[in-house]
Amino acid sequence: MKGSLLYEGKAKKVYHVTDNDNQLVLSYKNDATAFNGKKKDSFEGKGRLNNLITSRVFEYLNQQHIPSHFIEALNETEQLVQKTTIIPLEVVVRNVAAGSLTRRLAIQEKTKLQPPIIELFYKKDELDDPLINDDHAKLLAGVTEHELDQIKIEALKINEVLKGLFLQAGLTLVDFKLEFGRFDDNTIVLADEISPDTCRLWDVETGEKMDKDVFRESIGNLIEVYETILQRLEEKLCTK
Ligand code: TMP
Ligand code: ASP
Repeated sequence: MKGSLLYEGKAKKVYHVTDNDNQLVLSYKNDATAFNGKKKDSFEGKGRLNNLITSRVFEYLNQQHIPSHFIEALNETEQLVQKTTIIPLEVVVRNVAAGSLTRRLAIQEKTKLQPPIIELFYKKDELDDPLINDDHAKLLAGVTEHELDQIKIEALKINEVLKGLFLQAGLTLVDFKLEFGRFDDNTIVLADEISPDTCRLWDVETGEKMDKDVFRESIGNLIEVYETILQRLEEKLCTK
């Protein structure tokens, strides 16, 4: 079923599916990178955790009528998705100030952002994924004004659903990054992953960072933290 390698990224490998041109297999790696690959490590079990967490999150989004590329988890580290052409935009939604926003604009970490802030980054490693505006996005990512509006509306809807899900797991959704992909008929859907690699999650009670910042800032055990996220999501999703 899994065919030849199509693409290898920093956190995942993408494979063709032998008997279906419209599907792909995503294989989650144990590698962790930060600062556009300048900091690197590998953690046994990280691929499994991000695959299982992303699968739970996308299943929940599907139940809440948010369409995506996700079909099903195939095993501990791999998932089956519908093939899309990824739009080279990182769509970041922020509910609380953290990370690059605090550095770029000297906004105090933990400042509440209501309404949430959406930022667009151009997905281009050679340029270190720069922050861009809507006009740049239309030029560089090949999206129309209407499509960009739709992407932002969808990102805010996903934010509301995910904030609720994570809150029930005792986690504040501080910010996160989404990617969207295009089917052959031009329809745009949510794609890529949603995991502690792509979200900032803070424990509601203690404020403890429970995401890739533990690796970026060398402040904890990445596997223990990701395992806790998976367990809390599974408890929450099983009791529904
Ligand atoms: P930032 O504060 O570094 O701009 O990150 C905002 C959010 O986007 C945070 O939840 C982490 C996520 N993110 C990615 O998923 N991939 C990336 O390459 C970067 C820079 C951030
Ligand atoms: N994903 C980026 C990298 O691989 C940056 C980050 O997530 O901090 O380096």
